[in-house]
Amino acid sequence: MKELYNNEVSFELREKTIDESKQGSALSKDRKEGVKANGKKFYIESYGCAMNFSDSEIVASILSNEGFDSTTNHDEADLILINTCSIRDNAEQRVRARLKNFQGIKKRNPAALIGILGCMAERLKDKLLEEEKLVDIVAGPDAYRTLPDLISEADGGQKAVNVLLSREETYADISPVRLASNGVSAFISIMRGCDNMCSFCVVPFTRGRERSRDPKSIVKEAQDLYEKGFKEVTLLGQNVDSFRWSEDPKLKGKRLIEAKDSENVVNFANLLEMTAKAVPNMRIRFSTSHPKDMLDDVLHVMMRYDNICKYIHLPVQSGNSRVLDMMNRTYDREWYMNRIEAINRIIPDCGISTDVITGFCSESEEDFQDTLSLMKEVEYDMSYMFFYSERPGTLAAKRYKDDIPLEVKKKRLSRVIELQQSISLKKNKEDIGKTFEVLVEGVSKKSKTHLYGRNTQNKVIVFPDEGIRKGDFVNVKVTDCTSATLLGELL
Ligand code: SAH
Ligand code: SF4
Ligand code: F3S
Repeated sequence: MKELYNNEVSFELREKTIDESKQGSALSKDRKEGVKANGKKFYIESYGCAMNFSDSEIVASILSNEGFDSTTNHDEADLILINTCSIRDNAEQRVRARLKNFQGIKKRNPAALIGILGCMAERLKDKLLEEEKLVDIVAGPDAYRTLPDLISEADGGQKAVNVLLSREETYADISPVRLASNGVSAFISIMRGCDNMCSFCVVPFTRGRERSRDPKSIVKEAQDLYEKGFKEVTLLGQNVDSFRWSEDPKLKGKRLIEAKDSENVVNFANLLEMTAKAVPNMRIRFSTSHPKDMLDDVLHVMMRYDNICKYIHLPVQSGNSRVLDMMNRTYDREWYMNRIEAINRIIPDCGISTDVITGFCSESEEDFQDTLSLMKEVEYDMSYMFFYSERPGTLAAKRYKDDIPLEVKKKRLSRVIELQQSISLKKNKEDIGKTFEVLVEGVSKKSKTHLYGRNTQNKVIVFPDEGIRKGDFVNVKVTDCTSATLLGELL
């Protein structure tokens, strides 16, 4: 089942399929002064959302400071890591299949260690050691600082597990090693965890409580990236609009959430503004916004700064208020449509995309029709669409019956995909004749003589290579399109 649109975006912001890290072999330039190479190599493979890819860059930094070098060839690795995702059953199945493939490596090189990181590690804990006999290390998303200890334990023949979740860990002081980077665009994690408890979602269980990172460290990371030649950053969090930080020791934890916006509290709109000002020549994106928290202040900041991209990913999940209530999304259709209206009013020509789930518990044909009608009303530029997959331990798994037959879920999924394709095509056709500023990200996957990049609305544009370089900003006039891509010519 193709869950994602097949476009040219090199880094999807939603769940990705396999991406073997294309990092170069020498990390030495990223290594702290005084750290000597230990002669060992690690290989890391990442699954799931952008947060996970961003975490792999933190892991690479921790390992490089232990003296490890990285490799893209797992056959020569002393340490093989898989950073995993639990969001849907098929995401976990993919990892299990991959682990089976790794059995051969372990046979050829019994000294090699295999470690599972990320959300599946957190969800299954030491069960992974029992079920998958070849796993030596299990580390959850908040345990990466202890990887060096876990590796020593595993080297000593012990099974090494750390799946403790933290209320404080943000890895704020760790400078990520940019893996598989195009050198143009990078992620910055601004917060971790999620407190939202959407009933279908495993993330609050795998990533723990929501916590924001010190804004000073975020701005510094953006500035460092700019100095290294990057042209675009994406601020990442499961729910960026609930970003909240205070230096005031009296405003910790729950009190911080309740505190009124004041000089003592930095909220997401403030952070966005701070970042936009600190790196005025860099494009700034962010993901993901939650409809209940995305208020007008963020939209006004977006409008005020040219370097903040005019694009919002605003997952709706369903167009039916009863289903939204069962999903515990804490907004209804009317509230959601009010937010769309605010985006269109405050930021004309803003790109909007969404996530949709089909076949959630008890969803009737009429409920599903509401999702279709909402999609038509909003006219999303793009959608990420999934059929519901029950996740053990979630509120929905405990409270509701997963009662929509798989064929119906899948049929509805293909109907939303078909609808979105027709909407995307219509919206893309409206862009024909327009000129956009495009940040060039690289050579088109389909044609070596073409480059691709994105406009501020996050639409991918492909155009003939006329000696332009990756990382350049160019003006491109749209001449044609498909439902996934705009085609154009350089001006
Ligand atoms: N924090 C993000 C979501 C991260 S998960 C947000 O709130 O938007 C990305 C998407 O996966 C979700 O928006 C949802 O559409 C989908 N998803 C999550 N759990 C799912 C499940 N159990 N079955 C199917 N899709 C799911
Ligand atoms: Fe999951 Fe909801 Fe949190 Fe997103 S906001 S990560 S869907 S619980
Ligand atoms: Fe991301 Fe998957 Fe975990 S979507 S937060 S890696 S469950």
